[in-house]
Amino acid sequence: MLQSVASLRSETAGLDLFEEIDRLKKEKNAIVLAHYYQDSDIQDIADYIGDSLGLSQQAASTNADMIVFAGVHFMAETAKILCPQKKVVIPDLRAGCSLADSCPPDRFKAFCDAHPDHIVISYINCTAAIKALTDIVCTSSNAVQIVNSLPADTKIIFAPDKNLGRYVIQQTGRNMVLWDGACMVHEIFSREKIVKLKERHPDALVIAHPECETPVLELADFIGSTTALLNFSKSNPGNIFIVATESGILHQMVKDSPHKTFIPAPPENNCACNDCPHMKLNTLEKIYLCMKNEEPSINVEESVRIPAEKSIRRMLDISEKLGL
Ligand code: 13P
Ligand code: SF4
Repeated sequence: MLQSVASLRSETAGLDLFEEIDRLKKEKNAIVLAHYYQDSDIQDIADYIGDSLGLSQQAASTNADMIVFAGVHFMAETAKILCPQKKVVIPDLRAGCSLADSCPPDRFKAFCDAHPDHIVISYINCTAAIKALTDIVCTSSNAVQIVNSLPADTKIIFAPDKNLGRYVIQQTGRNMVLWDGACMVHEIFSREKIVKLKERHPDALVIAHPECETPVLELADFIGSTTALLNFSKSNPGNIFIVATESGILHQMVKDSPHKTFIPAPPENNCACNDCPHMKLNTLEKIYLCMKNEEPSINVEESVRIPAEKSIRRMLDISEKLGL
């Protein structure tokens, strides 16, 4: 059930949400998993903050009875696919993903049927229905390694992110058929404005997520998943970083390296378009309420969940073998 802002405020008025969320975690044996793109106060109350691979590994291994997923729908759905017996709640059911939406299952099935001798690798940013049509799921942390783990002559469909797909082709030399999907946040960065920023800060290093378009990735000194970008910003001796991904990651970067400067890569317009509008639907109030009410909760039909789990487990197994 969707609540109005006024009713959310009245239900949470006067509460210390940090204390209340902590109390509910203990009372319900709940764990809060948060993606790096969440608001900073949500990251601060989370039991685990990570990228999509880390979050799915945590979901697969937790002993909690309830998983509170502070992220978007496909992430919570992945947790439910891996843990069908657990209650998985999401603060706002409307937190979707433009990339997942760019790949409707009926059209994707027809696309796969048109390439019957191809293995299907899907980026985790897709719906359960797409995962059910997939052989191996991947994330931005392991896409290159998963493709490289297959025999060189394997014919591959890669979906839904064409930008990540192009990056993987460039890294592996494989000839993959790409689905034409993209993330609305990572397509917004302006190559020209990043070049101008680099002129003003010649020592700055550009670090970029592989969901960005090729002209932006060409400027990057380092390309990686959100966790890889964070680790690079900690370990690299550089002091100024231009960060081409969603702005939520800056919270951990500043926390881990307070003496360094992090500049969000500028978007094409003067908008806040490098904030993901879906991720930013979640709030502390909504986290408290979904824990208290145990809804909205995620459910996945067994006919979809079982094949979807297979493709996610293949990814987790390959990642474990490769030490990722
Ligand atoms: P990672 O955190 O896996 O790098 O993914 C980024 C993203 O766009 C999640 O929606
Ligand atoms: Fe989807 Fe892009 Fe938002 Fe990630 S940042 S949830 S890929 S729209």
